[in-house]
Amino acid sequence: MEKPTRQCPLIVSYSYSGHTHRIAQALQAVTGGDWCEIYPWQPYPMGFSELLEQVRREVRTGYRPRLLPGAADAGPYRVLFVGAPNWCGAIAPPMVSWLAKQDLAGKILLPFVSHCGGVPCDFTREIARLCPKADVRAALEVLDDGGEGLFHALQTWLQENRMGAMPFPVPAFS
Ligand SMILES: Cc1cc2nc3c(=O)[nH]c(=O)nc-3n(C[C@H](O)[C@H](O)[C@H](O)COP(=O)(O)O)c2cc1C
Repeated sequence: MEKPTRQCPLIVSYSYSGHTHRIAQALQAVTGGDWCEIYPWQPYPMGFSELLEQVRREVRTGYRPRLLPGAADAGPYRVLFVGAPNWCGAIAPPMVSWLAKQDLAGKILLPFVSHCGGVPCDFTREIARLCPKADVRAALEVLDDGGEGLFHALQTWLQENRMGAMPFPVPAFS
């Protein structure tokens, strides 16, 4: 593993309609981390039925879409927050693409997922399966963008995970 040189965490998010990015932005505010959004090279369709058809196909076949250049590299970080929407009971494929390109051995991964209360996805298990050498913590599941309860949910989740020595202070909320 590359020796971590950044004290702060990296927050990586993929979002189609903005919910996951809002969660990522809140995490950045809370942790003081670096935030990177990832984008597929080929944007997903705007129309829902076309989008759903494509996503179903990608999830079924395990397709990993190519990403736009510029996505952050996990190397310098010890702690990473990785977030994506639940698409068809799975991690949205662009995040799978990003994870697959990283050396995450020995890193602490904190997954977060936005969903609409539909088909569930066991994000913790999926991320652990994709990143077997990482220390994957229990995922935070957020309905849509978390609404007004988002900061409280983040605080609780972060405090639970401080058990395993988070290398940065988690500020209190007023
Ligand atoms: C193609 C597609 C498939 C989805 N599948 C699910 C699902 O299986 N279960 C679920 O709870 N939500 C599902 N959703 C809802 C999204 O996970 C939810 O709207 C989420 O908040 C979107 O996050 P985003 O704004 O960051 O893209 C799906 C949304 C889309 C567009």
